[in-house]
Amino acid sequence: MPYHEILVIGGGLAGLRAALAANQRNARVGILSKVHPLRSHSVAAQGGINASLGNHPRGGHDNWEKHAYDTVKGSDFLADQDAVIMMTRAAASCVYEMEHWGCPFSRTEEGKISQRPFGGAGFPRTCYAADTTGHALLNTVYEQTIRFKQAAERKDLVIYPEWLVLSLVIEDDRCKGVVAMEMKSGRLEVFGAGAVIIATGGSGRIYANTTNALINTGMGMAVPYWAGVALKDMEFEQFHPTTILGKNILVTEGARGEGGYLLNNKGERFLANYPDSEKAMEMAPRDIVARNITREILDGRGFDAGGSSGGYVQLDVRHLGREKILARLHGIRNICLEFSGVDPITDPIPVQPGHHYTMGGLECNTGCETSIRGLYAAGEVACVSVHGANRLGGNSLLDTLVFGKIAGGKAAEYVQGQRLTGKPGKAHDDALKRVQQKVDGLLSREDGKDTAAAIKTEMADVMTAKVGVFREKRRLTEAFETIKGLRERFRNVSPAHNGRRWNLSLQMVLELEGSLDVAEAVVAGALAREESRGSHFRNDFPRRDDDNWLKHTLAFHSKDGAKFQYSEVRLGTFEPEERRY
Ligand code: FUM
Repeated sequence: MPYHEILVIGGGLAGLRAALAANQRNARVGILSKVHPLRSHSVAAQGGINASLGNHPRGGHDNWEKHAYDTVKGSDFLADQDAVIMMTRAAASCVYEMEHWGCPFSRTEEGKISQRPFGGAGFPRTCYAADTTGHALLNTVYEQTIRFKQAAERKDLVIYPEWLVLSLVIEDDRCKGVVAMEMKSGRLEVFGAGAVIIATGGSGRIYANTTNALINTGMGMAVPYWAGVALKDMEFEQFHPTTILGKNILVTEGARGEGGYLLNNKGERFLANYPDSEKAMEMAPRDIVARNITREILDGRGFDAGGSSGGYVQLDVRHLGREKILARLHGIRNICLEFSGVDPITDPIPVQPGHHYTMGGLECNTGCETSIRGLYAAGEVACVSVHGANRLGGNSLLDTLVFGKIAGGKAAEYVQGQRLTGKPGKAHDDALKRVQQKVDGLLSREDGKDTAAAIKTEMADVMTAKVGVFREKRRLTEAFETIKGLRERFRNVSPAHNGRRWNLSLQMVLELEGSLDVAEAVVAGALAREESRGSHFRNDFPRRDDDNWLKHTLAFHSKDGAKFQYSEVRLGTFEPEERRY
């Protein structure tokens, strides 16, 4: 049995930062990832990372308290304020650490890290590397990860790329490892560990119109959920205001931060017509901008692409000029040229809101500890909660690095207080057998009428159509019934073939079970929450209701679907107030 004191599941920013923190504390670490770390979804993050450096003349007065206030207000007061303070206080040192590790941030004329405006701040706070910030940060942290590996063999850091985790090993209420499948051979293996950190990212692929990579199936949420960890605040799904028409590839908020305008079919900057965005305009938070774009489209003031692409508005950056577009938004320009045939230097970009981020996730405290001892979570898969009902752009990269580091440190402390044998126990054998039986059962199933691909498409389509920017009881109930039906149909699905090597169809079936359970928790949570807050807007309950709903949703897994409990929001200095920008 491969054994590591700490196993990190996920090789993106949160996972690598956690591995590095644990490794620096002399813990021996293994990283299991479905893809090579540099192909993790963190690489797709574009616009930047927030920190109150005060490098821009308009942001010279900035400090972490202002960042904390903006984050809490942006969250529609659902974020836990102690967690937000931890994150915003750590932001500057986190960004400087990345700078010292060689991250190629864009620079001001005097050579400081450049900052651009992002939604919900009112002035430039978002540090960036042109419009490929995730790529720059991921490569920076990856370099450090392998540097430590080479420099100090005794610290032992092993990366297992292309392994899919299917189950946790739990013994005496502690997490002691995982069962995973090597994707190229189909071999199942049990890994022993003193502690496990889940850092697998979001679950955007439960939606059809998402900016998320194909790997973001939600399996990393489902595996701990099946083992008893609650999924928290799953009804809060972020819809990014600007994704490429029909393809839903991200067009960074940085494009608006640099001065881009949103226009309706009358050529108006329509955000001025809505009380919640009339001052901040394109720099209002994402939930508000996405809603107001959708209203324009529904009211006939958008453009119609016809077919299945839906309506859109225009994002106009032409007035920024060729030089600035090439320097600050070159990635976006390439994406536009490639995927919509539009050159933003000469033409407006057709954009529409698309699913972007999972605010909810595995319930954990500010030490990234879940309810299972020895099991930690960090990054988008986790809900600490710093984003509440709506995340501010630029806070997700920050979340991955701050809480990734905390998770690695906490897990190292935990294993150093244990007497670890490194030997498999009965729980390891049992967990491996259970997974083996499940996989053998799937591979020997008779061909059913249904395919995993058909069920996956129906799930993603219904989530997009009925659990989107605007929600209401009737459509949520229809979505709930559809997902319930799909979970039934899933029982008869078999992989397209029964080989073991690179059986992507087997992988799809295994992960679809997780996606369906995560989707069910989202819809059921949205149906239960009879108010509007942040990204969760109910046409039938259009007001925020602090008396009854200033609380976190906790979904617990059962065979019959999610069972709900609620927990208090940890408030602090920032009292709930009306959100107008
Ligand atoms: O718009 C963006 O560049 C996305 C940033 C984020 O999600 O934080």
